[in-house]
Amino acid sequence: MGLLTIFSAKGGCGASLIATNLAVSLARAAPTVLIDLHAQQGTDDLLLDLRPGHAWPELLPVAPELTDRHIELVGCRHAEGLVLLAAPTSLPADHAQDMRTRLLLDALARRVAWVVVDALSGSWSPTCAEISDTQLLVTTADPPALRCARRLLNVRPPAGDSRVGLVLNQFSRGQPASASDLADSLGCPLLAVVPVDPRGVGYQVNFGHPCALDRQSALGRSMMALARRLVAGGSRRPETSPALASTAGRSR
Ligand SMILES: Nc1ncnc2c1ncn2[C@@H]1O[C@H](COP(=O)(O)OP(=O)(O)O)[C@@H](O)[C@H]1O
Ligand SMILES: [Mg+2]
Repeated sequence: MGLLTIFSAKGGCGASLIATNLAVSLARAAPTVLIDLHAQQGTDDLLLDLRPGHAWPELLPVAPELTDRHIELVGCRHAEGLVLLAAPTSLPADHAQDMRTRLLLDALARRVAWVVVDALSGSWSPTCAEISDTQLLVTTADPPALRCARRLLNVRPPAGDSRVGLVLNQFSRGQPASASDLADSLGCPLLAVVPVDPRGVGYQVNFGHPCALDRQSALGRSMMALARRLVAGGSRRPETSPALASTAGRSR
């Protein structure tokens, strides 16, 4: 259990696809909240075919005394049990560094087993770096994406206990280097290698059907496998809300 931040060094690498599918996969095992930090540019609702009526900043004023009821009221529940805290249509650009956002993420992590943060691309969020258990840096293996990833890793903040792991997305056999060589060259442990999956991804992007629920989807299978490893890895946040726990895993 814990707080996982998904981000990328440049847009378009697949961070939102990884975040939504990892969250759906984790929600099958334990109560999970996915929070989409992309003000004005959030797409996680579309990727999950949800129509949220609220957005996560509505929780900021109640963050210090957050309850399950608050999460249910502002969140949008997916059929698989996952709760999405959707992106707002507008917000100040520095919201991710806002102390209240940190309070909210911390409060969420105390109430549910897994908090998956779909974070902004292109920079480190000091808040996420400080309070995440793991930050998953999603990159593709093309030179522009790898260069951006390397530059970002070179300015990695020294904050907190958070560990950083690499998710190599859209990886195919034709790449000039192996996945583990690429991870070694970036100096970042390899958490997952995700193949190109035009059919499964196309179905999710166009119809909001998560790859993780599609047995034929290579991306979905790889996220289910990563979720199993994370679940098996245990927790440093033991207390989980009984009310939200009762709704987890209902579609298994
Ligand atoms: N494994 C994959 N297989 C096929 N297409 C992919 C894959 N991962 C990402 N894509 C493509 O990349 C696009 C951007 O993905 P997205 O998750 O929105 O990226 P980000 O959140 O990093 O900007 C998707 O709409 C899809 O077309
Ligand atoms: Mg995105």
